[in-house]
Amino acid sequence: MRIVFFGPNGSGKGTQATLLKSELKVPHISTGDLLRAAVKAGTPLGLRAKAVMDTGKLVSDDIVLSMLEERLAEADVAGGFILDGYPRNLVQCEALEGLLARLRQPLDIAIKLDVPDAAILARCELRFAAEHRPDDDPAIVRKRLDVYREQTAPVAEHFADMEKLATVDGVGNVDAVFARILAVLPRVPA
Ligand code: AP5
Repeated sequence: MRIVFFGPNGSGKGTQATLLKSELKVPHISTGDLLRAAVKAGTPLGLRAKAVMDTGKLVSDDIVLSMLEERLAEADVAGGFILDGYPRNLVQCEALEGLLARLRQPLDIAIKLDVPDAAILARCELRFAAEHRPDDDPAIVRKRLDVYREQTAPVAEHFADMEKLATVDGVGNVDAVFARILAVLPRVPA
């Protein structure tokens, strides 16, 4: 199955995609994780990306697309994938559509996780205290929420037009949210 997860920062995309990966046995591809790996490796691309990520803005479409193209060319995605954090704007929606058409891997569903700002601020504050992720600083979390509203929220309409959108309430414990996600997955013929 080929799934896109999107939603505001801290809405639980990574947490739920990890659970779904075990359930469906398909790889979890997070553009945030790909970028953080490049930052950790200290590559020129990683250094450029870090400067942008630390401000809460989006890394350039070209950089993220080339990383994603490389990842989707790997053999383990032949049976499907869970894409977390891409697309994040309408340019990326078009790029993904083109890429998946070339790979003959049509998307099955785009899952949007809905979580109100107050819960997001609380979650990111907890993670900031535990993990010190630079973009979990409360001021940057607010900036990321603004970027989400301005650039990523319109992605929902794009998937609704394709009749692929499922919106899931992301509030509640992790298992309850996961059960809601399982309930919206399309049935795959046996
Ligand atoms: P990315 O890593 O994608 O971050 P994000 O979308 O901002 O998401 P988060 O990782 O903060 O949250 P999440 O929704 O995955 O939730 P999680 O499960 O971690 O991107 C980081 C940056 O990279 C971007 O700002 C941008 O600069 C760049 N980037 C990435 N993709 C890009 C793209 N396509 N184009 C351009 N730039 C891009 O959970 C969050 C916390 O909440 C955790 O501590 C978790 O334990 C907790 N939690 C999860 N579920 C629950 C629950 N149900 N109840 C309580 N707590 C919960």
